[in-house]
Amino acid sequence: MTAGVKPSDPPLNSLQGSSRISEIRTSASCHEKLGTIKPYPDESDLGRFQVTKSQYDKMVFKVPSLRNVEKTGPYFHNGRVATLEEAVKRMGEYQVGEQLRNAQIQSIVTWLRSLTGVIPAEHIKPPKMPESTPKTPQPEAAG
Ligand code: HEM
Repeated sequence: MTAGVKPSDPPLNSLQGSSRISEIRTSASCHEKLGTIKPYPDESDLGRFQVTKSQYDKMVFKVPSLRNVEKTGPYFHNGRVATLEEAVKRMGEYQVGEQLRNAQIQSIVTWLRSLTGVIPAEHIKPPKMPESTPKTPQPEAAG
């Protein structure tokens, strides 16, 4: 984390407040662990640990890009967080160790909304898949 940079410092406007937050997010060496500062209460999915069985990977999840984040909810690895406001609140609490005030949350969300842009059609077109054959792996049956 960058010295002297705290989200609890009152932002003067949404841009300044949010660039501070962006600095925290990009400078923290958190190894993408959810619950770095305060243990995340929902451990029903232990993340990468489930594949590697390494303690180091407990609660490690891929951090999605924030580009277009206002359109990519629901949030977090299990989609249990419905709104951007709630996602930011939890980030403050579990990743940064701050109870963000509503005005701060709004300020950050305003900035996150500024990351919305046009998604190039090439990036979202359905992929061309190979023909299905009897050897093609199938999803496991539910239950
Ligand atoms: C206040 C500053 C921060 C903001 C505004 C913020 C914002 C966000 C948002 C909006 C998401 C949801 C993305 C999605 O599901 O599409 C997210 C996810 C995540 N962020 Fe942050 N973040 C902040 C700080 C941090 C820090 C400091 C770390 C690391 C120490 C971190 C690690 C993560 C991780 C691991 C996820 C994925 C969680 C999951 O999939 O369950 N964040 N962040």
